[in-house]
Amino acid sequence: MSFIRKKKKVAIIGSGFVGASCAHWILSHNLADISLIDRKDNLAKGRAIDLFSSSPLVKHDLQIQGGSDYGLAKGADIVVITAGLPRQPGMTRADLLSKNAAIMKEVCEQLKKVVSEETVFIVVSNPLDAMVYQAHKILQTPREKILGMAGVLDTARFKAFIAEKLKVSVQDISALVLGGHGDTMVPLTRLVSVGGIPLEELIKPKDLEQIVERTRHGGGEIVSLLETGSAHYAPAASVVEMAASILRDERRIFPCAALLEGEYGERGIFVGVPCQLNGQGLDRVIEISLNAEEQKQFKKSIQSVQATIQELNQIS
Ligand code: 2OP
Repeated sequence: MSFIRKKKKVAIIGSGFVGASCAHWILSHNLADISLIDRKDNLAKGRAIDLFSSSPLVKHDLQIQGGSDYGLAKGADIVVITAGLPRQPGMTRADLLSKNAAIMKEVCEQLKKVVSEETVFIVVSNPLDAMVYQAHKILQTPREKILGMAGVLDTARFKAFIAEKLKVSVQDISALVLGGHGDTMVPLTRLVSVGGIPLEELIKPKDLEQIVERTRHGGGEIVSLLETGSAHYAPAASVVEMAASILRDERRIFPCAALLEGEYGERGIFVGVPCQLNGQGLDRVIEISLNAEEQKQFKKSIQSVQATIQELNQIS
């Protein structure tokens, strides 16, 4: 008897640079069929045809659909929400709050009508920790089924800058960035290892301090260089790392924005913590011991996320 594995499906809301790059990486990793959904019907259709035309070259037989109809998300194993305005130079992520909160509400109300209880949501829109909170408020899905993408991106930037400084392979760096996706994020320098060697044995404290600061402002550095729009290759590759762990039940551990239910002494907010992702979505939040300085920084980051949530609750 032959056994045919059901093909996986990912719906991507928003066909701007982040959404289109997510589709591109998913197809190039041969992961899943794609539905690209955007309120600009022709943009989503055009991107879908362009990506489909690349399939003989990228060598996959995945299906790609595009349009403004949320019915295209039906049957999706994962929905990636990228819809929202990108940051402009001089704008903080919080400046985007009210506009993107309204967009997130509209998107989630549409999605609620078409997705199943099994669907896992990955939110990417900024300000990230508030937008995943907003999506959860509308979707009312269990915490296993909704995550924010930020820690994977912040950690990737941290690793890339360390590898560049030490002139080593990025593959040999193991690292973790916790907290909110903003300037208060917490790159855990104590836990970084390079080929199993503690980073602090290989780098000057001043160089490490500079890397931590560059990581904290990694998104902003790109926004000011681009002048219009924000980063998209690394954010999209980060989404795909999370999606692959879910679609292939890889049980990998990443920092993700997850709803805390008492872990780290917090409840009711989404913030970046170590998470294990399996075929169902979030398998577990992992609590690690932090030293006094790390706890202080993590608390400050949580307070900054809480302040944004308070602002959000006042306007929506
Ligand atoms: C970044 O950090 C867009 O928030 C995203 O680049």
